[in-house]
Amino acid sequence: MINIVIFGAPGAGKGTQAQLLAEKFDFLHISTGDLLRQEVAMQTPMGLRAKAIMNRGDLVGDDIVVALLDRALRQRSTLPNPDAAVDPWDRELYGDPHRPEGCIIDGFPRTVQQAQTLEFIFNKLQRKIDCVVAIDVPHDELVRRIHERAAISGRADDTEEVIRHRIELYDQQTQPVLDYYRVSGMLVTIDGSGEIAETNGRICKTLELVMHLKAKR
Ligand code: AP5
Ligand code: MG
Repeated sequence: MINIVIFGAPGAGKGTQAQLLAEKFDFLHISTGDLLRQEVAMQTPMGLRAKAIMNRGDLVGDDIVVALLDRALRQRSTLPNPDAAVDPWDRELYGDPHRPEGCIIDGFPRTVQQAQTLEFIFNKLQRKIDCVVAIDVPHDELVRRIHERAAISGRADDTEEVIRHRIELYDQQTQPVLDYYRVSGMLVTIDGSGEIAETNGRICKTLELVMHLKAKR
């Protein structure tokens, strides 16, 4: 199984595509945005701290986001060697060790610092990111999609002003992460301007190739 990061601006279709891929390939889908919205809905201390920041469209502090990501990965992450003698506490922490499972991470990393943190977390789990899929969509289309979603999503950050701010922040802070992955040779950019199924077909082809190459190694 492979571990993937799905990358793109707000409205690019990260969540939509990640869900389709999770169903098709049995990936664990981890969305930092969804994890944060759950904390907000449950009014946990982390949620209470994150709420106003998310409503403004700013980035939540790494202490919160990294803690949520780390917890989600550990809950269902596979042990490097499922048959090794393992401390029962570790077994509980890692979930069912016999269930081989890839994961798809959506919404993280958003800064170069977060990309380095992700590498650190994966090293600790003796796993690696196999591919970063960046969905490329023109700005006007991003805004159009989020506007359309705003009517039904109930997301407090789907307002005109906040949408613009989220996209600006993406251009300033998140776009540089692409260079980080380009240099490491993990980046695949997919044209995401067409229909959902069209984009999905392109991503599936890429991932099948990544899995094929990995299996041959
Ligand atoms: P997050 O939830 O990650 O939001 P986002 O990145 O702004 O992206 P969206 O979820 O809006 O868009 P998406 O790319 O998932 O597109 P979707 O599939 O929904 O983050 C929210 C907030 O949490 C952040 O602002 C920040 O405050 C905080 N946060 C999260 N992660 C963080 C981190 N790592 N560090 C710090 N803070 C963090 O599609 C959008 C719409 O378009 C949908 O209606 C969909 O149906 C439609 N659509 C999708 N594809 C197509 C298509 N091909 N054609 C037509 N419509 C389409
Ligand atoms: Mg999303």
